[in-house]
Amino acid sequence: MNFKNLSTKELTGNIFTELHNDWMLISSGDEQKLNMMTASWGGFGVLWNKHVSFAFVRPQRYTLEFLEAHDYYSLSFFEPEYREELSLCGRKSGRDIDKIEATGFNPIFSSSAPYFKEASKVMICKKIYTDFIKPENFIDKKIIDFYPEHDYHKVYIGEIVEVLVKR
Ligand SMILES: Cc1cc2nc3c(=O)[nH]c(=O)nc-3n(C[C@H](O)[C@H](O)[C@H](O)COP(=O)(O)O)c2cc1C
Repeated sequence: MNFKNLSTKELTGNIFTELHNDWMLISSGDEQKLNMMTASWGGFGVLWNKHVSFAFVRPQRYTLEFLEAHDYYSLSFFEPEYREELSLCGRKSGRDIDKIEATGFNPIFSSSAPYFKEASKVMICKKIYTDFIKPENFIDKKIIDFYPEHDYHKVYIGEIVEVLVKR
């Protein structure tokens, strides 16, 4: 295996550039069927004394069906050489194409959620809380402009149960 386990406290890097500029893949499923999508909104932090991730997934994403059906998901980060594959996973739906075939990525099933041999860093997350963004709760009402179709994100808070980095 070309990954090693780290604790969350050993992580380095700037999560703002890693998420906003470099993006991540949210993946869930099993050996029979999995799906992944690109995400650049989210976060990492401390909640209920756990180290957690926050992911925001619009209801029409195919990936949401996998997130709903499984207890775990992975967040994978990649080197710039995989930018085109990440772009594809953010443009196309797994409903229309087989993203494993289209990217050539090699899924690994050794943890509670699938991740990819090509990733440089992976966080395996256990769902602990979900809810939909509610328009009536926006204090800054301008943000509602992000939702002309009223497709408010579903928020996933996941306990980070495993961190893997490429050796
Ligand atoms: C750079 C980038 C970031 C994205 N971030 C998110 C996100 O945080 N949440 C979300 O719901 N969709 C996001 N998307 C859109 C999904 O990745 C896209 O709709 C994808 O095709 C969904 O695939 P699926 O239907 O197979 O789940 C992003 C797309 C790109 C290109």
